[in-house]
Amino acid sequence: MTGASAGIGKATAKRFAAPARHDGASGTRDKVLMVARHEQRLVRAAREIEESVPGADVETLPLDLSDADAAKTLRDRAGATGLPVGALLCCAGAVPPPADPDAGDVAAVLTEWESAYRANVVTAVVAVEALVPSMTDGGGIVLYSSIAAYRGSGGSGGYGAAKAALHSYVHLLATRLGPRRISVNAIAPGYVAGTDLFGGALPAAREKTLIGQTVLGRAGDPVDVAELGHYLCSPPGAYITSQILQINGGSLHGV
Ligand SMILES: NC(=O)c1ccc[n+]([C@@H]2O[C@H](COP(=O)([O-])OP(=O)(O)OC[C@H]3O[C@@H](n4cnc5c(N)ncnc54)[C@H](OP(=O)(O)O)[C@@H]3O)[C@@H](O)[C@H]2O)c1
Repeated sequence: MTGASAGIGKATAKRFAAPARHDGASGTRDKVLMVARHEQRLVRAAREIEESVPGADVETLPLDLSDADAAKTLRDRAGATGLPVGALLCCAGAVPPPADPDAGDVAAVLTEWESAYRANVVTAVVAVEALVPSMTDGGGIVLYSSIAAYRGSGGSGGYGAAKAALHSYVHLLATRLGPRRISVNAIAPGYVAGTDLFGGALPAAREKTLIGQTVLGRAGDPVDVAELGHYLCSPPGAYITSQILQINGGSLHGV
């Protein structure tokens, strides 16, 4: 699980650490390898999960996935668990500080786009290409897109474009890994509150606008998204592949 120290990734790591519903009485559960850059925050997130989920089996790996060198570290650490990788959820992502496209500073715009690409595309490609060889046949991969892939982000132009790039990667991977019965999908959330993605709480007016765009009248919760990621990697979700699943309270409904 990448991006596991905060927000959606942390909630998803917690969901995988709990006994799986489809296991019924057997109560078997997954070992969860939690990956993110900042060690203290990552370890704090792991402790939180251990305290709230009795019997949780979590490990932490502080690692910046935006560079190819990270692939070997990730592969070695996953291999050291002695277990095959049954599910890979690539939740690491970030919104770079937006450059002003009207300021005439092309270099600044390019820096923003490159940073968005590294944080959202390179992190996923590195994790996937590192771990696919050790994945269980019949496993699941989930990438994390965004509603911004469909309508822009309202801030960083590069962010929505980077998320859209993941859609093509999903289809490519699903085709490549279909013969191994590995499903590959992306989840594209709308506004999810209670994460660190926006560097703190959104301005109240902006949050009101985003919530007002939903038909359910509320922001998404990291747990909403965690449940979907878990389902996609569980036996009942095994026939879903090559899809971009939007989860946004109906924000794009009728638009
Ligand atoms: N929240 C929303 O409204 C929303 C909406 C649409 C899509 N999404 C997408 O959902 C995913 C999770 O978002 P979130 O809201 O939960 O964000 P978040 O709270 O900011 O969490 C992002 C996670 O990614 C990690 N990360 C960032 N860059 C990394 C890198 N280079 N290498 C390894 N780990 C890295 C962060 O930890 P470190 O900083 O310590 O590395 C953190 O654990 C992202 O891909 C985001 O784009 C979120």
